Amino acid sequence: MTPSDTPIDAWRGDFGDDYVARNRATEETMGNAARAFTEILSHVKDNPPASILEVGANIGINLRALAGITNAELFAVEPNAHARERLVADEVVPPDRLFDAVATKLPLDDGAVDLVFTSGVLIHVPPEDLETAYGGIHRVAARYVLSLEYFSQTPVSIPYRGHEGLLFKRDFGGMWLDLFPEIEPVANGFFWRRTTGLDDLNWWLFRKP
Ligand SMILES: C[S@@+](CC[C@H](N)C(=O)[O-])C[C@H]1O[C@@H](n2cnc3c(N)ncnc32)[C@H](O)[C@@H]1O
Repeated sequence: MTPSDTPIDAWRGDFGDDYVARNRATEETMGNAARAFTEILSHVKDNPPASILEVGANIGINLRALAGITNAELFAVEPNAHARERLVADEVVPPDRLFDAVATKLPLDDGAVDLVFTSGVLIHVPPEDLETAYGGIHRVAARYVLSLEYFSQTPVSIPYRGHEGLLFKRDFGGMWLDLFPEIEPVANGFFWRRTTGLDDLNWWLFRKP
């Protein structure tokens, strides 16, 4: 990563390739994700999403887990080419439901997918682009939006793998309500690393009225 790289250049380049190489879709990581999404989706079991889009899916640990616990049609947006190759090679999503794109420019129609979510992705969107990213996710989601991200009451930037400007924490749930006051909080929670194996992630699920 060079000093002139934007965060998206980094994720599309060697920095993102290294992440793909480190990432593992094992029984353990997929089991952790399956338990987490089972809990989240239990809050909408009377009206489950028929289609789900993950924005920033990487190699698809969450989507692989979702394939085991729902019948929803799965979609992915992912800017890193090696990650997309894995998603296709492992048949996590078919090529026509996989998009080379970013959260700030989603190439899907309004209301195209029932539930749109990010997991550890909004934390990597530069603060000046966040409102656009939220707007796109809200536009594409027909019924639900879900964020699993790192929480901080006050927005902070923290070094990530030795780089500045690549990781930001804030109240991502509160930002949904600030930008779209009409959406309804369905449930929220915290996946504590000690008991879930996940990365100390806060999550917020909202319904569009
Ligand atoms: C920390 S990984 C999380 C991967 C996956 N969501 C998970 O929970 O395992 C961040 C992913 O988001 C992608 N990404 C980074 N910036 C993005 C953006 N602005 N829009 C969409 N995806 C992005 C990266 O390429 C990477 O695959």
